[in-house]
Amino acid sequence: MKWNDKNSFHIEPVQGLLNDPNGLIQFKGKYYFFHQWNRFDTDHTYKEWGLFTSTDLVNWENPGTAIVPDQKEDKDGIYSGSAVEKAGMLYVFYTGNTKENNVRKSAQKIAISSDGKTFVKKNQGIKTPEGFTEHHRDPKVWQSQGKWWMIVGAQTTQNVGAITLFVSLDLLHWEFQGTFYTDSALEQMCECPDVFSLTNDVDILTVCPQRRTSIEENDLSLSSYAGYLIGKIDYKKKKFVPESDILLLDYGFDFYAPQSFEDDKGRRIMVAWMSRMSELEEAQCPTTKSGYVHCLTMPRELKWLNNQLRQVPLEEYKQLRKEEQKYTSANAVIKNCQKAYEILIDLGDSTPTFYLTLNAGMNSLEYKKGLLQISRINWVSGKKEMKELALEELHSLQIFCDNSTVEFFINEGQYVFSMRSFCDSFSREITYQELGKKGSVVVYNY
Ligand code: FRU
Repeated sequence: MKWNDKNSFHIEPVQGLLNDPNGLIQFKGKYYFFHQWNRFDTDHTYKEWGLFTSTDLVNWENPGTAIVPDQKEDKDGIYSGSAVEKAGMLYVFYTGNTKENNVRKSAQKIAISSDGKTFVKKNQGIKTPEGFTEHHRDPKVWQSQGKWWMIVGAQTTQNVGAITLFVSLDLLHWEFQGTFYTDSALEQMCECPDVFSLTNDVDILTVCPQRRTSIEENDLSLSSYAGYLIGKIDYKKKKFVPESDILLLDYGFDFYAPQSFEDDKGRRIMVAWMSRMSELEEAQCPTTKSGYVHCLTMPRELKWLNNQLRQVPLEEYKQLRKEEQKYTSANAVIKNCQKAYEILIDLGDSTPTFYLTLNAGMNSLEYKKGLLQISRINWVSGKKEMKELALEELHSLQIFCDNSTVEFFINEGQYVFSMRSFCDSFSREITYQELGKKGSVVVYNY
C-alpha cells in the first residue's frame, strides 16, 4: 500500500524520519517544537533537529532544519534535548553523539539563538561523569531556587538506568551534582527524562526505561516505554523522592519520549513521539513508500485532579470542529465521517457496557465487566491487536482521529490510548451500541 495521505492536525515530516519532540518552548510569542529528524531517509542513520512553529498549537509552519551535526563532538547525531529562554535568548541543550569504530561518545551541548532561526553552538560540552556509561543523553533544563538545573538520561557502569543532575548559574557552566534518581525499574538505561511541578506539593518525573539485553551497540532486543513517577524534587538533597511506582503515561500502542513545557497561560503541555513500533513495523509502515515516517502526538495539557495525573486535549482543538452531528439513540451507524474527526461521548452517569467501532472496523472499543479493550488492525500482520485496562467506571470518551492516528481520552483524560492506525479503505464509518438513556454521541468533522 502506498500512503500519500498526510495527517491533517499532527506534526509529520515532509520527508524522512521524525522521532522525539525536542526543545519545546514558547519563545517571543511563538511555540517552537523541534524534533529528531533524518531528513535524508526513513531510518535512524542520521539525526538533526528539525523545527515546526505555531502561534496556536494547532496550525503549524515548518521552517525545517534547525541544528545539524557539523562539529567534532556531534558529527554522528544531534540527539534529543530541551530549550529555555534567558534574557530574550533561546538556549537549546542537546546531546552531541559520536561513534568511532562502534564506540559511542556523548557530550551535552549548548546552542544559542536570538531569533529562533540561527543557532550558534558553544564549544564546550558536558562530559559523562564517572560511574556512568556513554549512554548519557537527552538533557532537560529548568529553572528553580534561583538556579538552572539539568537532568540527563543515563546508565550506570553497573548497567542500571539512572538520571544524572547538573547545576548552573549562567546556563553555560555546569557542575555535576550526583544521581537525581535511579532504581532497578529504570531497567538498563533511562532515555528522555523530564521533571516538573503540577502543584506546590506534586512533582512528576517522566522516564523512558530501556531494557538492554546486551552491552553491544547493536542490541537487537531493545524494548522501552514511557512512564512517570509522582513525588517531590528535594533541592537540598538534589534527588527526586518518589511517592509512587512507575505508572504508564499512555495505554495505547504508540507513545514514547514525551517532553513537556509551560506556556504563557501557565499550562503544562506534553507531546510525545507517536511510535513504539518494532523495527519491522517501522520499515513496513505504509508511509515509508511515500518517503516519510512517524508523527508527534497531539499536545495535551497536564493537570492534577483528585490525586491523579490527567491528560486533557487542548482547548485550541475546538477551532477545528466543523459539522456537528448528535446522536442519542442506544445504537447507531454513522456514515458521513471525514478522514479527520472528533467524537465526544457522554455515557450518562456511567455505563456497565459500551461498544464502539471506528474507521469501518479498523479500531474498536469495548467496555464490559470493568474491562476496557481498545484495538487496531496491525499493518504488518493484518491481525487485530488489543490493549486493555481494568477500569471501574467509564463515563466519558473524547476521541480524535486523523488520517492515520487515533487518540482515545478516557474519563476526561484519566487515561489515554494513542496509536497509529492505517485504513486501506477510506471508509470512516462509526458504529456504537448500548448507549445509556442519558448518554449522547457528538461527531465533529474537521
Ligand atoms: C529516544 C532516543 C533518545 C535519543 C534519540 C536519538 O527515542 O533514543 O534517547 O536522544 O532518540 O534519535
